[in-house]
Amino acid sequence: MLSATDIEVSLAGTPVLKGVSFHAQAGHVTAIVGPNGSGKTTLLRAMTGDLPYRGTVRLGEADIAAIPGWQLAAQRAVLPQASRIAFPFTVLEIVRLGMMASAEPPPERRASEALARVGLAGFEGRFYQELSGGEQQRAQLARVLTQVWDPVGPEGPRWLFLDEPVSSLDIAHQLDVMDLLGDYAARGGGVIAVMHDLNLTAMYADAVAMLAGGRTMAQGAPSVVLTDTTLSAAYGCDLRVNAAPDAPATYLLPHMARRAG
Ligand SMILES: Nc1ncnc2c1ncn2[C@@H]1O[C@H](COP(=O)(O)OP(=O)(O)OP(=O)(O)O)[C@@H](O)[C@H]1O
Ligand SMILES: [Mg+2]
Repeated sequence: MLSATDIEVSLAGTPVLKGVSFHAQAGHVTAIVGPNGSGKTTLLRAMTGDLPYRGTVRLGEADIAAIPGWQLAAQRAVLPQASRIAFPFTVLEIVRLGMMASAEPPPERRASEALARVGLAGFEGRFYQELSGGEQQRAQLARVLTQVWDPVGPEGPRWLFLDEPVSSLDIAHQLDVMDLLGDYAARGGGVIAVMHDLNLTAMYADAVAMLAGGRTMAQGAPSVVLTDTTLSAAYGCDLRVNAAPDAPATYLLPHMARRAG
């Protein structure tokens, strides 16, 4: 269980998170959704101990503020929203960064296994900066995976904290990555993913938290959170959730959306 309680964060003197509470269960994919600027990245960064915050974040029973960095690195890996690499690293070197952060040194083949898992088999020797945006995003995901490869370790469930893991991917790779995350959770790990794609969220998330204006607007099962009323209020436009008999989940069609006012 990951639980964040009454999280408050101010950035440059402005309150950004105004008492957010959030919970995620191991074995589940939990999505954080909400408009641009609603505080999703800030919440993720607070929960990974990357930002000073007021409130409490617990991983299992332990307050993350009291968990040593090396132990946290064994329990969770983090994919930031943007990863700028200033030096001409190869893909293999990027993925090895995750292996270096791993609790026990993984076998050398792990990097190639992770790259194959994200559809980048054979990319080891390519320069990261010369990859396409979607390829870079999948290389970063491979790095994160090598850090917490087994979803459950001696210390308990391991966690993936992912800020928009599929934002640059084509639809086939989006499905591949969401399947991968679903599989990680099904094998006992915890997955927390910031998402903008509400259809993928409806299809894959076990639970959803909707942020708006630095507060939690709703949290629960996708069918409870992703409703006409909540979505329209959060995004400020007229959004309709649809269902079709043969669709795997409810869905939202952009052409049915109308900007309010
Ligand atoms: N370093 C900073 N200094 C001042 N304000 C910041 C800083 N970082 C973020 N903010 C502000 O905090 C708010 C929340 O930002 P955050 O990055 O958490 O949003 P988000 O929900 O992840 O949005 P997006 O969907 O665009 O990624 C925004 O209004 C942003 O402008
Ligand atoms: Mg963000």
